[in-house]
Amino acid sequence: MSTATGSPPQKTLPNWDQLTFSLTETDVMFRSCGDKRRDPVWDRGEYVPFTDVRISPAAAFFSYGLGVFEGLKAQRTADGRVLLFRPEENAKRLQRSAERLSMPPFPSDLFVEACVEVVRRNLRFVPPAGKGSFYLRPIQHAIEPKLGLGPSNLFWVIIFGSPVGAYFTAGAPRGVRLQVLEQGRVAPGGTGYAKAMGNYAGGIYVASKWKERGFDDVLYLDARHERFVTETSGSNVFLVRKDGVLVTPPLDDQILPGVTRDSTIQAARKVLGIQVDERPLPVEEVLSEGEELFCTGTAWTLQSVREIVYRERAHAFPAESTRKALLDVIRGIQTGTREDPFRWTREVR
Ligand code: COI
Repeated sequence: MSTATGSPPQKTLPNWDQLTFSLTETDVMFRSCGDKRRDPVWDRGEYVPFTDVRISPAAAFFSYGLGVFEGLKAQRTADGRVLLFRPEENAKRLQRSAERLSMPPFPSDLFVEACVEVVRRNLRFVPPAGKGSFYLRPIQHAIEPKLGLGPSNLFWVIIFGSPVGAYFTAGAPRGVRLQVLEQGRVAPGGTGYAKAMGNYAGGIYVASKWKERGFDDVLYLDARHERFVTETSGSNVFLVRKDGVLVTPPLDDQILPGVTRDSTIQAARKVLGIQVDERPLPVEEVLSEGEELFCTGTAWTLQSVREIVYRERAHAFPAESTRKALLDVIRGIQTGTREDPFRWTREVR
């Protein structure tokens, strides 16, 4: 709907004190089209009002799931500046994910420029300091109308954003409760290292069943041996052992290279001086040696696990000091209250 002057009506700001992890429509989104038969493949894109898109019902991603996405955040500092966190990492991961689904890489410099610009054009939606963050959701899909199974020629990249609050409002603040599942989140040799829409689609049904039984989410074991911890539906996982060592599963075909995962490893090693081992983590070790268990993700941030249930036995993790110390470092950098020795943030002016 347009106003009498032809410009779209301004979107409504949310109540900053009631933010949850849900969509608030914002003013502007970015849209670029790609065609594999062209050189360059991608156009420079345009900034348009956030609105519904028109697309053929035969678009390949509707039937075949040829779609990948990203998530990254901008935060407001106490003195009112706005900092975007590690967009270059999301640019690289979007390219790796796209390649896995036979889609052309979107240029990193254009991705970063577009993320900055979407934040800049929606600055009024970046929550005040301490009230939440501005979550960017870049998506890339094969939009060519197609009936047969095979690679596509036509694509889009869209980047929109929304102010968000905490992902968990009920189970937290003392941490989430997870059901351990003796099954994989993704297939061995599959798309687990890519941020592919299908990896998440399959897990919604699984997690809903356990949510109905009072869990916040599920913790998947690996698909090959059903023994090693991998991920929840939407986050990486870390264990703090009783000897103080931090352990997280190594990057492989079933682990998403999380930007928060990487930030946590670097903050632990280089700021807090904690030993971090990236190695397979047997579920038995979690039970016998675990002092603290926590999850990491852009949406989840660093989220304590208060309890897991494995083979019908509950196991509690009362400690959370390491997670808190790491969150303090990472959030401090994201919100400008700490020095940024890694040069992770980029100011949006
Ligand atoms: C994120 O953490 O940004 C994600 O994309 C995970 C999703 C389950 C919200």
